[in-house]
Amino acid sequence: GSSPLDIVPITGRIGAEIRGVQLSGDLDAGTVQAIEAALVRHKVIFFRGQQHLDDAEHEKFAALFGDPVAHPTVPVAQGSSYLLELDSKEGYAASSWHTDVTFVDAYPKGSILRAITVPEAGGDTLWANTETAYEGLPEPLRQLANTLWAVHTNDYDYAAQFGVTKDAPAGAQSREAFQRQVFASTVYETEHPVVRVHPVSGQRNLLLGHFVKNFVGLTQKDSQALFNVLQDQILKPENVVRWRWQAGDVAFWDNRATQHRAVADFGLQRRTLRRATVNGDVPVGIDG
Ligand code: SIN
Repeated sequence: GSSPLDIVPITGRIGAEIRGVQLSGDLDAGTVQAIEAALVRHKVIFFRGQQHLDDAEHEKFAALFGDPVAHPTVPVAQGSSYLLELDSKEGYAASSWHTDVTFVDAYPKGSILRAITVPEAGGDTLWANTETAYEGLPEPLRQLANTLWAVHTNDYDYAAQFGVTKDAPAGAQSREAFQRQVFASTVYETEHPVVRVHPVSGQRNLLLGHFVKNFVGLTQKDSQALFNVLQDQILKPENVVRWRWQAGDVAFWDNRATQHRAVADFGLQRRTLRRATVNGDVPVGIDG
């Protein structure tokens, strides 16, 4: 369809840059609608040159798309009402593949991430399209996925369980230390269908990521093997876009149809971003 926006797709399956829009809390309804449509279509959309956004305007922009929510366990960024700060000083908490906050029932529908300080090189973010991942599954695996439910929790060391290597340099806090610190307070756990029907597009996608602990009815060992099979499908390069940040960039992703992670390849350089998150609904599986 035709959009009033200048939309430039980045890969064949995921990601688009939107040009010529100055983000603010004052965008007209038509522009907001067009941004939301681009979000559902492209899964993650990028806006360069948004240095004018401060915390307050960032929050107002996010509020155009739903009720903003603070992270359930991490304190809000200083000076903001509900922004989450991602600061490399605190470790590489976001450097494994996840969908935001899936350990609660109604997890966020979208997140809006604004780059404040970026390394000269490195510190990119990757997003994966979980809808094309589902569509690419061979039929027997798709049928299996259709029947599965997964337990999601924040009380879980994905990295240890799945043998992910952590490469925090000396001087930076380890991811585990960071997690202990932020997740110490409250443990959340919930179950979601592994195949989610997108509430806007009606398309099916795979709902997994690093908060998955196990599949309902399967042993830990079988859960891990099956998780790896499905997660590998999601992370195929064909389903992934990689964004090279400049300060002032904004990325807005559909948290109902993506996973993402940061790349921890920038040593002790400083990297800070702030994230606004908008509430979502309880995921609906293929049986309604
Ligand atoms: C996030 O997981 O929301 C942040 C990703 C990043 O730091 O690039």
